[in-house]
Amino acid sequence: MIFIPVNEPLLDGNEKRYLAECIDTGWISSEGPFIKQFEERFAARVGRRYGIAVCNGSAALEIAVAALGLGYGDEVILPTFTIISCAAAVVRAGAKPVLVDSDSVTWNMDVGQIAAKITPRTKAIMVVHIYGLPVDMDPLLALANRHGLKVIEDAAEMHGQTYRGRPCGSFGDLSTFSFYPNKHLTTGEGGMLVTDDAALAKRCRSLRNLCFQPGKRFVHEELGWNFRMTNLQAAVGLAQLERLDEFVARKRRMGQRYTELLADLPGLQLPLAATDYADNIYWVYGLVLDESLPLDAEDAMHRLLKAEVGTRPFFWPMHEQPVFQNRGWFEGERFPVAERLAQRGFYIPSGLALSEAQMEEVATVVREVLQ
Ligand SMILES: Cc1ncc(COP(=O)(O)O)c(C=O)c1O
Repeated sequence: MIFIPVNEPLLDGNEKRYLAECIDTGWISSEGPFIKQFEERFAARVGRRYGIAVCNGSAALEIAVAALGLGYGDEVILPTFTIISCAAAVVRAGAKPVLVDSDSVTWNMDVGQIAAKITPRTKAIMVVHIYGLPVDMDPLLALANRHGLKVIEDAAEMHGQTYRGRPCGSFGDLSTFSFYPNKHLTTGEGGMLVTDDAALAKRCRSLRNLCFQPGKRFVHEELGWNFRMTNLQAAVGLAQLERLDEFVARKRRMGQRYTELLADLPGLQLPLAATDYADNIYWVYGLVLDESLPLDAEDAMHRLLKAEVGTRPFFWPMHEQPVFQNRGWFEGERFPVAERLAQRGFYIPSGLALSEAQMEEVATVVREVLQ
């Protein structure tokens, strides 16, 4: 069998044509015309007034935290089960990450645990939609409103997803996306902030561009970053955006097909197809191995690799990160659901270019490995 990678993007739309335009016109830096088009069309697609394209989703989070002025003495509530980028942005700003556990069925942050974590120092909630289903936003937004908290919405994995009919990415004071090649839309590397607040958008643009000042370019009142996206990346992004509905529909079909192929396997938790507020978009197709099975995620991934099937482990919780434990943080804090997901969860090939035949091969190998 030929190796089946965990992800392969689909780049067979207008990507080449728009890229050729960049080369032909010489617009390859962040000043080219595709940037503005991509920002405007992407923002419109998620129902926001402003889009600010950046070099990746992690950078978008750094800017979001800085733009909201979060820093020393502030606490930010976020899920422990997420990518390091979320906590890193909070920590680098000097603020304190305060963690909540996950819901065992949706794998998203357990919104019911947030209220107990709010203190007079809490300034924001960083909500992260995980793997294909959104977080239950209504109770979270009500809580944020009641306590005057800012909301950063990390919608990195949620292109084209909705919560009760409203686009993911439309909920945060600032919402962020990633365009890494495993996302529904890719620019190679890339990210975007979206917002409806003109002042916040202006601040994000400035932070993205080293806080150069109009008129006094090399005189700085504040420190920013060079987190700019190039016109080349925006060209690819624009071509991808034209196909978002098609991509979401394709991923949904893929998710449903995997579920058909694997549903009868004992001891395996599969992604939930839907909640009462959203249908899964299957950013990735995750599996969680029950304790009744004689192997954990690491063993299973090892065996799948030997059988030429690529996988990725689930996120490793923030409270178990050596980089934070070495600072004495989160000592004695336990988040059993996230810990179990990390030990027993991984995902199988889920990219847009995966064929039906490859999915059947993956399912056959999973069956062999687990039985
Ligand atoms: C939830 C979440 N947030 C942030 C990121 C970071 O995005 P990037 O890889 O573009 O830096 C990712 C990346 O996969 C992600 O899944």
